[in-house]
Amino acid sequence: MMEKLNETVSFLKSKGVEKPEIGIILGTGLGSLANDVNVEITLDYKDIPHFPLSTVEFHSGKLLYGELGGKKVLVMNGRFHFYEGYTLQEVTFPVRVMKMLGINYLLVSNAAGAVNLNLPKSSLMIIDDHINMLPGSPLVGKNLDELGPRFPDMSRPYNPGLISLMEKIAAEKGIKINKGVYVAWIGPSLETRAEYRFIKLMGADAVGMSTVPEVLVANHMGMKVAAVSVITDQGDPDNLHPVDIDDIIRNAMIAEKDLVLLFESLIREL
Ligand code: HPA
Repeated sequence: MMEKLNETVSFLKSKGVEKPEIGIILGTGLGSLANDVNVEITLDYKDIPHFPLSTVEFHSGKLLYGELGGKKVLVMNGRFHFYEGYTLQEVTFPVRVMKMLGINYLLVSNAAGAVNLNLPKSSLMIIDDHINMLPGSPLVGKNLDELGPRFPDMSRPYNPGLISLMEKIAAEKGIKINKGVYVAWIGPSLETRAEYRFIKLMGADAVGMSTVPEVLVANHMGMKVAAVSVITDQGDPDNLHPVDIDDIIRNAMIAEKDLVLLFESLIREL
């Protein structure tokens, strides 16, 4: 893996990706932040050596390098999901690349369904902690000691300083925000009523199909992570309506302007 990582890092540097400070991963229906970036370089994932290809049609699959909130950012517009058939190592490869380019801050967004019914649709939830229910971890296998420790600590996978900053910004800007636990579920099918009931019981507030692998790898490499879920639907086991992916994307788009404002303000303050 080191060889592949070095090749990808050299390729990106040769394209002019110089000293990015902040990495951003944009989730489903949450690509509009890309419009606010002063883009200097755009690369299709398919043109980047060793990058997997994004298969979900509404993921545009582009890596953007440019300026946002006065800082150099590297943005993944479109992420890789386990349910697409990639291994967890493939899903998290770009995060390793980010760190090796010198990035120490990772900001992540995703779309999620609330099992805590106090979380309204189209609101934001700061991820305070997670539960990994994917069938594996990207850290399984031989540990590369040059990248991080064999047994990385997960007492605070989401940086408490970044969480406080986001709470302060949300209060200042009047952004409706909560804080909670995110569980990563395999997908691509949505949850059954019994699964939503179980997910709530296990201590989660929201469920989605991403983020946890990237956060595990970022923590392994010592990056500071902030992650925010956009609540797109509610998984109420006692009153479950069929979920409509168009509805999910529509609700994501409603919350998107709050997410962009939050992330841009956060970057400005880093
Ligand atoms: N479950 C899993 N993933 C999701 C959901 C959900 O209810 N909503 C958006 N992504």
